[in-house]
Amino acid sequence: MTDYTNEIQKRRTFAIISHPDAGKTTLTEKFLLYGGAINLAGSVKGKATARHAVSDWMEIEKERGISVTSSVLQFNYDGYCINILDTPGHQDFSEDTYRTLMAADSAVMVIDASKGVEAQTRKLFKVCAMRHIPIFTFINKMDRDANDTFELLDDIEKELGIPTCPVNWPIGSGKKFRGVYDRDTRKVLTFSDTMKGTKEGHIEELDVDDAKIDEVMDPDQKEQLMDEIELLDGASAEFDMEAVSCGKLSPVFFGSALTNFGVETFLQHFLTMTTSPLPRTADCGVIDPMTEDFSAFVFKIQANMNKAHRDRIAFMRICSGKFDAGMEVYHVQGDKKMRLSQPQQMMAQDRHIVEEAYAGDIIGVFDPGIFSIGDTVCTPGNKFAYEGIPTFAPEHFARVRLLDSMKRKQFVKGVNQIAQEGAIQIFQEYMGGMEEIIVGVVGVLQFDVLKYRLENEYNVDIRLENLPYEHIRWIANKEEIDVEKLTGTSDMKKVKDMKGNPLLLFVNSWSVGMTLDRNENLQLEEFSKN
Ligand code: G4P
Repeated sequence: MTDYTNEIQKRRTFAIISHPDAGKTTLTEKFLLYGGAINLAGSVKGKATARHAVSDWMEIEKERGISVTSSVLQFNYDGYCINILDTPGHQDFSEDTYRTLMAADSAVMVIDASKGVEAQTRKLFKVCAMRHIPIFTFINKMDRDANDTFELLDDIEKELGIPTCPVNWPIGSGKKFRGVYDRDTRKVLTFSDTMKGTKEGHIEELDVDDAKIDEVMDPDQKEQLMDEIELLDGASAEFDMEAVSCGKLSPVFFGSALTNFGVETFLQHFLTMTTSPLPRTADCGVIDPMTEDFSAFVFKIQANMNKAHRDRIAFMRICSGKFDAGMEVYHVQGDKKMRLSQPQQMMAQDRHIVEEAYAGDIIGVFDPGIFSIGDTVCTPGNKFAYEGIPTFAPEHFARVRLLDSMKRKQFVKGVNQIAQEGAIQIFQEYMGGMEEIIVGVVGVLQFDVLKYRLENEYNVDIRLENLPYEHIRWIANKEEIDVEKLTGTSDMKKVKDMKGNPLLLFVNSWSVGMTLDRNENLQLEEFSKN
């Protein structure tokens, strides 16, 4: 293998998905600690910054540059080069959170052992499942009282529809947490709560038949463990690597990120089970990541909040070959050769200019406003476009009222540009024009961002009136349907998106089913692929 294929082979690019507070940040910190990327956990992103995403966007006084902090974290561990993609959560949950998953080759799902599957995990899981990427489960916070282990697994299977296969099994929880039993080696990793924040813990590895085990756990705990293992061996899905690879079986691990227990063993197993950069589909067929020719697609565009700099950063996932700074590339959608300016990679809070990067890596490039989400760049001479990124269903809607009608032109321009960056989606009345605009967003923070940016960048004041819609459906077979004649429910609204595609908005989920019943040929979908 030549140098560059070696580099690609060792890449592992994944996202961590979870509901806020399940422990995503803590687990990421511990991963970085093992990679030697930070000395002491806790420095990935200060808690204070993580907790103040809203003000982050709003604080112009800071006159900060482009917000690229922790979009992707790269570190090396055990011969692997690992890229962890950040999926914004909390208040800054947005379409970007979903789009980031398009750049990942696998996902780690962190679940709080006392809560089970929660709303945000469910949403993010859906997107991963749509892509059939491998999904690994880390059940966290075992040092706190946890739900029954079988119930936790049942919950995942029922809520998410994916069978699970525990790689290890917890012994007790909370004050009675004693460690995990590895089903493959039949060894117990013992837990002792003395290692907060440090890498070195006193984890002992004992054979389950070792007499010393009795010092670790009560006889009734051991009996329970043996009973559970027997039950598990009889009842749970067999480990099947092929099923894991296509996202049809999730390997499950138990641990406690805070006390650093079970994290390294998880990382080691995960790295052997997860995938090197996956081939991606383009309009000319599947592109092998190992081909020499560079190619990438844009999955996220980040606007500069600094008014003085209208520039943006386009984040690209490299899908094949090697990238060299200064190399000439071809922007397919723009039909132009160009050089990617100021290519950067992020490491925690530092950005640095990249000299070279490989399939699996993410780079952020300076964008003077030419890129759109989903665009392809490749080696000149090639001319193919990667499959587009779906438009994800917004969950919050508002009508936008322009306060000064004299500013109509700037308003239309601003709204269109912000929509093009993918921060918001805009809709019009089905039979109307731009005089009435409905905005849809995945996370409510985007409403504030829209208002703020229109005021600051376009000098336009708006008022947002919340609308009660919560469900949106694109009409999959629009050619066969006369939208004007559709008979829906009283809460249904017909709109069109900026490309003229017809859509239906509903207040209640049951109205979706009702509308389908009333219109025999109607086909609806939750994502728009075009
Ligand atoms: P997130 O990124 O998924 O939102 O979660 P984060 O890691 O920020 O963790 C949320 C809270 O849960 C934090 O507590 C964190 O310390 C705690 N936590 C994470 N993993 C574990 C674990 O394995 N066991 C226990 N007991 N707690 C865990 P916090 O009080 O909100 O923040 P902090 O003041 O401790 O930093």
